[in-house]
Amino acid sequence: MAVKIGLVGTGTVGGGCIDIIQKHQEAFKRHFGIDIELAQVCSREIAQAEAHGVADIFTTDFNDIINNPDIDIVVELIGGTTAARDVVLGALAAGKNVVTANKALMATYGKEVMGAAEAAGKELAFEASVGGGIPIIDPLKHSLIANEIQTVMGIVNGTTNYMLTRMADNGLSYDDALREAQEKGFAEANPSADVDGFDAAAKIAILSSIAFNSRVTLDDVFTDGITNISPVDIEAARDMGYVIKLLAIAHRKEDGIDVRVHPTMIPETHQLATVNGVFNAIYVVGDFVGETMFFGEGAGAGAAASAVMGDVLEVARHIQQGVAPIVGCTCTDELPILPMDDLVMRYYLRFSVTDRPGVLETMAGVFARHNISVKSIVQRGRSGAERVDQVVVTHRCRERDIREALEEALSLDGVVLAEPSVIRVEE
Ligand code: HSE
Repeated sequence: MAVKIGLVGTGTVGGGCIDIIQKHQEAFKRHFGIDIELAQVCSREIAQAEAHGVADIFTTDFNDIINNPDIDIVVELIGGTTAARDVVLGALAAGKNVVTANKALMATYGKEVMGAAEAAGKELAFEASVGGGIPIIDPLKHSLIANEIQTVMGIVNGTTNYMLTRMADNGLSYDDALREAQEKGFAEANPSADVDGFDAAAKIAILSSIAFNSRVTLDDVFTDGITNISPVDIEAARDMGYVIKLLAIAHRKEDGIDVRVHPTMIPETHQLATVNGVFNAIYVVGDFVGETMFFGEGAGAGAAASAVMGDVLEVARHIQQGVAPIVGCTCTDELPILPMDDLVMRYYLRFSVTDRPGVLETMAGVFARHNISVKSIVQRGRSGAERVDQVVVTHRCRERDIREALEEALSLDGVVLAEPSVIRVEE
């Protein structure tokens, strides 16, 4: 008998799932013996269901799906953490397996929903929550479990990677690059989630929880976005042999987890430096496997639907073969999150300062007072009649010292004229 699917959310990704089922349903049965049937779809408007030819199985109330005794797998694709949480918890409580693409839910309420799945003895799969179509959660939970994972580091936001690529390759301003990304439909409904780094932070919270077997939530992730990056920074990075990427970084260290999202300079020879446009890539280092990298389309209907349906088919296979849920929550350890203030790195800083004698010396004094060893201070052209860009590159120093130096610099009367650009250097 076919495994019955209930789909909650028929937008971009939900529509992609319907397309996949309609196109490949027979092949799933023929190749893998997996027999699935789309039993019910839920959405606010019937138009999307009509557009995909599934108006006959449409409802506006997700409870119809949760309470439908025939349905085995509920697919939650509405996003957010309010109604989506009700759908996921309600479906698990009703004895359904759940597949979701919801990164915000998993990064914030991961412990609760994984606990609910375990209590219900059902599967909760969420491959599409990170990296769109890129298989990364499944490899971390299966193919790579022979390793202790040391690093997970990636470009996990397509919008910002597209913007930085256009700024680097075509000299676009930040505003033009954002406008273009929005026109192409890459950006989240609220672009702040992309450009301020929260989308990437949710994704690295999920990845580091799995990689390090220790719960990391969205609140644990130090997050800084790309809003202060300008073509001047990109040009300066190039001169230094680096590229700028919005990286989501998680390292397992001796005393805990170092997890953060920020614009980062990486050497132009690093594998991640060549990942351009809307593509995502996730670099994973394990103690036995060494370096691995997963690459692909991080967003879009087809890519995300591919990941969702991969989960659906795997859960359906387990149901048909009578396999009990194999992997539930794997966060068995409680590793501390390392305070950002204690991290030691090199920094690139750009200040828009008043163009008058003595400012260079004033700024040098700020760094000296905070015990920061400066490698170079370079003035990079005038960005107006009375202001100039001052680029400071430091030797390795503590984040706390940098933060305090920035606070002092910004408090000086009439010296620093705009929010500085702060880019950490990952060697
Ligand atoms: N806005 C996200 C991105 C979509 O640009 O990567 C996928 O989460």
